[in-house]
Amino acid sequence: QSYRVAILGATGAVGTELLSLLEECRFPLADLKLLASPRSAGQTLMFQGESLTVEAVGDRAFDNIDIVLASAGGSTSKAWADRIVAAGAVMIDNSSAFRMHPTVPLVVPEVNPGAAAEHSGIIANPNCTTILMNVAVYPLHRVQPVQRIIAATYQSASGAGARAMEEVRLQSQAILDGKAPVPEVLPYPLAFNLFPHNSPMTETGYCEEEMKMVNETRKIFSEPSLRISATCVRVPVLRAHSEAINLEFAAPFSPDQAREILSQAPGVKLVEDWQANYFPMPMDATGRDEVLVGRIRQDISHPNGLELWICGDQIRKGAALNAVQIAELLIEKDWLRPAERAIATPQS
Ligand code: A2P
Repeated sequence: QSYRVAILGATGAVGTELLSLLEECRFPLADLKLLASPRSAGQTLMFQGESLTVEAVGDRAFDNIDIVLASAGGSTSKAWADRIVAAGAVMIDNSSAFRMHPTVPLVVPEVNPGAAAEHSGIIANPNCTTILMNVAVYPLHRVQPVQRIIAATYQSASGAGARAMEEVRLQSQAILDGKAPVPEVLPYPLAFNLFPHNSPMTETGYCEEEMKMVNETRKIFSEPSLRISATCVRVPVLRAHSEAINLEFAAPFSPDQAREILSQAPGVKLVEDWQANYFPMPMDATGRDEVLVGRIRQDISHPNGLELWICGDQIRKGAALNAVQIAELLIEKDWLRPAERAIATPQS
């Protein structure tokens, strides 16, 4: 069987990655529709050696579509969600618009695949830093529940889209040419600089990106009161995010046991050469599917503490790959159609 898929936001950083992933994983496609804003209508993108024309999203865009992979920002997702669901398609949404909605599953296939079964037409793809952290932490959490997580992130420009990546290139060149860097997409110059994450500040003193790591991890782990504190920082890396993660357990968790567990964990690759001081780097993570984990060590300040250092490709596992894996999961488990399953589900 094959499926009719639409990519909403096909011209963006995540959209173009979705296109290459569908090609790479030989997704069972009956049809592929590329949608973006009217600005991009008529533009062509290559897929399996053919050039496909991008269409402006419109009222009838989702007719006869089975799966919509959406990555065009929260307001676009909100604007089209009703129409997508009414057309009978499942929307796998990369934006934050529906993530915390109680009836929308928030899914990392390595962590909570079963949650995807409960959808009513929309499944949310979590925030990128959250996905990467969850893939690395959940295998340990399963063995011994984590009590507190403290994370610091080092986030690349790709998290702010294709235009932000281009801005870092242009700013770097400007600085090398002795000119002033001009910020347009990001609020401050990122080349040769860094700044705390620019998402809106909340009343807690944590910005929205940081609160996503807290709230989304709690939802994905089904641990509503898990203690998490995150500090998110943008760094002048083009692609792939890094995170320093401190975990506190109820009893000691030996680094060797963590290494053993993570060496077998789905979606994780151990990268550790202590003699060479060689650990995960964004350059090594770029273009890879796995979350690279290393520098696993005992926290010297706490007997029950464990430290991890991770890097992951924000556009792949942090966004596009996770979305495609959710689509594959729906197909494999026959969970595409919410209505049919609703009839089969006992009501009391
Ligand atoms: P477009 O290229 O036509 O602006 P990124 O995350 O890299 O910034 O990409 C955002 C994606 O979302 C692009 O494909 C962009 O299309 C698309 N997009 C932005 N606004 C809209 C909109 N109002 N309707 C449809 N697609 C949109």
